[in-house]
Amino acid sequence: MDRWTRRKFFLTSLAGSAFAGAGRLFGKTLEVTDGNRPGPRLLGPAPVAGTRPLIISSANGLNALDKGMQILKGGGDTLEAAVAAVTVVEDDPNDDSVGYGGLPNEEGEVELDASVMHGPTRRAGSVASVRRIKNVSRLAKTVMERTNHVMIVGDGARRFGLAEGFEEMNLLTEHSRKIWLAWKAKTSFNWRPGTDSPEWKEHVAALFDYDAEKIAYAMRVITSPPTGTINCLAVNAKGEVSGTTTTSGLAWKIPGRVGDSPVIGAGLFVDGEVGGAGSTGKGEENIKICGGHTIVEMMRKGMKPDDACLEAVGRVVRNYNGDKKKLTTFHLYFYAVNRDGEYGSASLWKNGYEEGKGAMFAVHDGTPARLVPCKTFFDEIGHEE
Ligand code: GLY
Repeated sequence: MDRWTRRKFFLTSLAGSAFAGAGRLFGKTLEVTDGNRPGPRLLGPAPVAGTRPLIISSANGLNALDKGMQILKGGGDTLEAAVAAVTVVEDDPNDDSVGYGGLPNEEGEVELDASVMHGPTRRAGSVASVRRIKNVSRLAKTVMERTNHVMIVGDGARRFGLAEGFEEMNLLTEHSRKIWLAWKAKTSFNWRPGTDSPEWKEHVAALFDYDAEKIAYAMRVITSPPTGTINCLAVNAKGEVSGTTTTSGLAWKIPGRVGDSPVIGAGLFVDGEVGGAGSTGKGEENIKICGGHTIVEMMRKGMKPDDACLEAVGRVVRNYNGDKKKLTTFHLYFYAVNRDGEYGSASLWKNGYEEGKGAMFAVHDGTPARLVPCKTFFDEIGHEE
């Protein structure tokens, strides 16, 4: 059986096993007591050994997880920990997929999306297409805490942020602006010098200070628009779970395009009784399978986080009937934790964010934060991310 046939077999057999599992669960209610709240926890896997506190993220959060772990170790709130971690990445001008320095839309304007979910109080907040405010994960948390809405978008979200004391700023760094200029010149019918102009090579070389690495990077993100993003999930010692996902979205998007990150149930989903899941990569594909919610529901029925993530990737693959030519036009990752502190991740392709490196995610369980390989659906190099 090749890998795809094996996956198809797994998807088909899952229908049967999930049904059998549901019978077990519904036939005999699991009386697992929740240590923090009175009453039985009706559904969910029996506790197994995991690590708590725990905080995980997409690979680009590796150096930010310490911040979240400090909060968890100090007995702080799980959502506060996750937001503190991703804020480091939102503030970083060198991460061009999140916050300040994100690659802009086709008009050269950075537009950010984010969501949060707080497991202990079962609340959510989200913002989309936000301009000129850097820390949109905290803005989403503010929507959750200060309004009776879940989602605020566009100029309304920006004005809400200003009213709540967020500062306005230009989110386009010189680095991102130059790549945007090169993207326009390379792909537009209107702008010059294009690739057919005699000055094209010199124009690009001068734009990136004759630095071969910078030029190669710019050409890579022009040809293969990234959908970067950071997802972060935190579990504290008591087994409470929260998460956040924040992004500048698809580079060169049509203004107003919204990906999966702010969509509760897609780019992020947390159910405090079970765990949480989130995503990075091409949001449109995740939205169509409600990845975050799908994974949490599979974990509720007893699946391990990594298997549930892989199963979600399988649903995306199924949407294309396994056609690798079509699937290679994008990349996608899922991440998950359960309330026992077990974690996992799966990616569509073998390659990761950094050229030449495999698909990885970041884990901090009290020992120094480290990168861990994702389970991969296809053991091949696919779309550059
Ligand atoms: N996953 C981020 C996006 O597609 O916008």
